Amino acid sequence: MYSTNGQYHAIPTDPECHQRKHSLFQSLERTLLLRIFAFFFLIIIVVIFIVCRVASPLLGPAFLFDAIPKPLYIDTPIDRPLVIRLAIICRVDAFERRETIRAAVLDGVPQGDVRLEYKFFVGRVKGLDGYGETAMEGTRTMRRITRENEVHGDIVVLHDIEDVPERISEKRFAALRWANSVSYEEYDYAMTMDSDTFCRFRTLARRIRYMYSNLKPREEPILIGSMSKKDVYWQNTVRDTNATGIKAKEEDLWVKGPVYPYPVGIGYMLSSNLTATIMNADPAVPHHIHYPYDDVMIGSWIAALKDLHNPSSVFQTLSGKFAPEQVSPTPYLPYAISTKIVDDKIGWHDYKGRGSVRTAHAIGWDTACVHRISLAEMVAFRGMEEVKMEWDY
Ligand SMILES: *[C@@H]1O[C@H](CO)[C@@H](O)[C@H](O)[C@H]1NC(C)=O
Ligand SMILES: *[C@@H]1O[C@H](CO)[C@@H](O)[C@H](O)[C@H]1NC(C)=O
Repeated sequence: MYSTNGQYHAIPTDPECHQRKHSLFQSLERTLLLRIFAFFFLIIIVVIFIVCRVASPLLGPAFLFDAIPKPLYIDTPIDRPLVIRLAIICRVDAFERRETIRAAVLDGVPQGDVRLEYKFFVGRVKGLDGYGETAMEGTRTMRRITRENEVHGDIVVLHDIEDVPERISEKRFAALRWANSVSYEEYDYAMTMDSDTFCRFRTLARRIRYMYSNLKPREEPILIGSMSKKDVYWQNTVRDTNATGIKAKEEDLWVKGPVYPYPVGIGYMLSSNLTATIMNADPAVPHHIHYPYDDVMIGSWIAALKDLHNPSSVFQTLSGKFAPEQVSPTPYLPYAISTKIVDDKIGWHDYKGRGSVRTAHAIGWDTACVHRISLAEMVAFRGMEEVKMEWDY
């Protein structure tokens, strides 16, 4: 098209104009595509790199019994049994779970390796004190528990604590109080096991006796488990209560301090000496801490027993609306206690491919306690040739 001054103005319908624009667009498009391609290529490389680094605990077989020769200690009897007071923290309505754990894990533990006294710890059914359907159903559940206890006699019902996640730390504390109801001279370890954990007690006992042979649980403070790290400490500011609702869910005072190890939710063992020491605190150690910090709480007590006496440790309030402020929390006991920490990641771990990549790996001869295992898997595991042999029957 020609304007009046003779200059050419291209219009879209001009054939050569169409062409030019098109090829310009094409080359632009090509560079862009190339860049996009390069970008995605880079992303894919990075993803593959990360997956390779992280996934090794997730890939491969779930069992290693065939791949690794059986260590000698597994078949070496011990001179005297390990005496364990075991608490299994579980939900009040987990009837099937308790039945399976009794049959697959607790029944037939060899007396020569472990002298086991155990209890399940449950709270009061939620909504029991209300009216209507919920309360009626709750009453039926409590009756069923009573019946179950008449048969097995292995359930501690904590009537003051409603069975809700916010109060699981109080169940853990009650479990230790039960462990400590006999003298520390009568047992070795107060052990707590989650209700989705399977423990091979014979392996556990032999592993402790031979792999950690210097431990004296009745004479020194010891914590055994698989450790992670945290930096929160608590001060006991909430009174024990039989209430429900908001009042029952108050939390102890949080402060931040030096990083310490805590046993991740698989289970843990506190030496009888440490249990007695912790239970000596008056006022009691803080135990009103909501899930999922209930396992952190155990590590925090042990760290606090030492760190709250250390003048060079810095504690401060958590940052929130106000800037953190330095504080000096009150020690739990008048003297400092230094605990031996046994971080046994080979012996205590999550089932392969479940939970955190740091704590999950395949089950082998050295596996003492495996976590995140289903009820059907517990039964199948106990039935395995390599595992079955460790129980009396
Ligand atoms: C707490 O409340 C429950 C349910 O109402 C009751 O059974 C229990 O006896 C109470 N305990 C105390 C110490 O009052
Ligand atoms: C625990 O062990 C420590 C250090 O060995 C000792 O001082 C303390 O008296 C023991 N506590 C108990 C209750 O035996």
